[in-house]
Amino acid sequence: MCGIIGIVGKAPVAERLVDSLKRLEYRGYDSAGVAGHVGGQVERRRAKGKIKALEEVLAAEPLDARTGIGHVRWATHGAPNVKNAHPHTAGRVTLVHNGIIENFAELKAELAAAGRVFHSDTDTEVIAHLIDAELATGLPPLDAFKATLDRLTGAYALAVLIEGVEDLVLGARRGSPLVVGEGQGEMFLGSDALAVGPFTNRVIYLEEGDYVALDHDSARIFDADGAPVERPVKVVPASAVMMEKGNFRHFMEKEIHDQPDGCQRTISAYVDALTATTAMPGDLDFKALDRIQIVACGTSYIAGVIGKYLIEQLADLPVDVEIASEFRYRQPALRPGSLVIAMSQSGETADTLAALRYCKAKGMKSAVVVNAQESTMAREVDVVWPIHCGPEIGVASTKAFTAQVSVMIALAVAAAKARGTIDAVEEQRLVKVMLEAPRLIAEAIGLEDAIKDIAADIAKARDVLYLGRGPMSALALEGALKLKEISYIHAEGYAAGELKHGPIALVDDQTPIIILAPFDSYFEKSASNMSEVMARGGQVVFITDPEGAKHAPKGAKVVVTAPASDPLVSSLVMSAPIQLLAYHVAVVKGADVDQPRNLAKSVTVE
Ligand code: AGP
Repeated sequence: MCGIIGIVGKAPVAERLVDSLKRLEYRGYDSAGVAGHVGGQVERRRAKGKIKALEEVLAAEPLDARTGIGHVRWATHGAPNVKNAHPHTAGRVTLVHNGIIENFAELKAELAAAGRVFHSDTDTEVIAHLIDAELATGLPPLDAFKATLDRLTGAYALAVLIEGVEDLVLGARRGSPLVVGEGQGEMFLGSDALAVGPFTNRVIYLEEGDYVALDHDSARIFDADGAPVERPVKVVPASAVMMEKGNFRHFMEKEIHDQPDGCQRTISAYVDALTATTAMPGDLDFKALDRIQIVACGTSYIAGVIGKYLIEQLADLPVDVEIASEFRYRQPALRPGSLVIAMSQSGETADTLAALRYCKAKGMKSAVVVNAQESTMAREVDVVWPIHCGPEIGVASTKAFTAQVSVMIALAVAAAKARGTIDAVEEQRLVKVMLEAPRLIAEAIGLEDAIKDIAADIAKARDVLYLGRGPMSALALEGALKLKEISYIHAEGYAAGELKHGPIALVDDQTPIIILAPFDSYFEKSASNMSEVMARGGQVVFITDPEGAKHAPKGAKVVVTAPASDPLVSSLVMSAPIQLLAYHVAVVKGADVDQPRNLAKSVTVE
């Protein structure tokens, strides 16, 4: 999604705006631009493509401004080109926007009928015209802004400049995140703490519907009803803001290697290591619960599917997991008192947020498994179950995924103990298994060289099939998603038992088949699936553990032996090989690993 920055500065801002936009690149974008007050006018500089193109424009035509705004755009309305790049200007108003204005067509028609001329295909330009038209009636900037916000339907995070008012940046948020950064005689506005991180660690998280007027020394915040409000200033740890790749080539590679630490910190937040017991935050009565509904998208959905297997097996508690974008439109039969869990790294995914709100409206208790603890979802649920893996920058989710699964594992054990389906001794055993998982993940990451050797072959494939049973069937989905989203190779994940009901028609001697099969209760059946595909020339990459390697049918193209692990944590251990495989295939193909084409880190539009 788009990224926004605004600075009411006392020193030149052009370079600082660009620096901040670089920290927002992870959100995914296809054009960029800045604007600022220069000698009584507001000037813009915009470019299609990456920020490097914008830097070339600025080198040719510097922007000597001390108050300005910037934007990286992920195209929703209008093709990615300079005409549609933000900032957009109408009369005295220049602004940047993240989100979608759902009623922009009718507003545009009304404004055009009033003689207003449009220069772009975007919904955003409509907002600039609306504010300018309100100014023309004599309203002061803040009132003109508020009058405009009241007319908008949809999602927005905005940063606005008004020509002739240099000591002012206006901001507002509804459905898209926005924060204020407090500086020394300067104020900042950004899509998240990362955006303002280079300038300050004092951050104010605006609430849904808030709007704000920034000058050099103050942030006047108003709620959706226009009432002045105070929002707390949070000091954001430098480590959470300053992102570096360390000695890795890509954030994704670093984040794969960060997983032992991220899972360790996450697991430690949900168990008492001394007593080897679980400790789930929140006062949920798992004994009284009759059902859990999980809603999520993408990789977070897959983490929820793994949770379903574990919670149902251990706690005998029914769990449904659904793709959020489907769930909320099918009028699901929900019961008050049951629990909805949203799974979301960003806590801002529009589909998941809408599904969560749908469930809350039905009287369900609500929880979120989330990385961004100040996100919209985290602020709207009854119980927050944070993951502690640190900000995830690579668009392809890795460390957040295994951290989410870690929370699902803790939840399964805690619910089972509360419901009496396991006793204290078994709980202690399982908690010890959880505490060993980070070491096993680190061992699995140690398979990187073996995985690298396979990557060159897989990179030549046209189609790749991933197969698994039980939680490994979910991991097969995740392996396929990772491969397709960063290497652009078509890949599908299937429950291995489903192979003979269609997908086996795809198998020939050009098709790599990645089979995920630790030596667990599903192993025998996975091994026979392996024989089925090899009999048809399928090139099998068999990812298993030492016992599985001993019992695997002969003939696999390659066997990758991950460390042995208890079924409770095998999905954590088996994630690293499939993540590393996707990563190294993408590197072989020269793909843009951290910012794959067409993708965004947080999809804040439906
Ligand atoms: C994962 O690799 C993808 N980037 C994508 O599927 C992601 O998991 C999905 O968009 C959900 O995002 P969220 O966890 O922030 O809600």
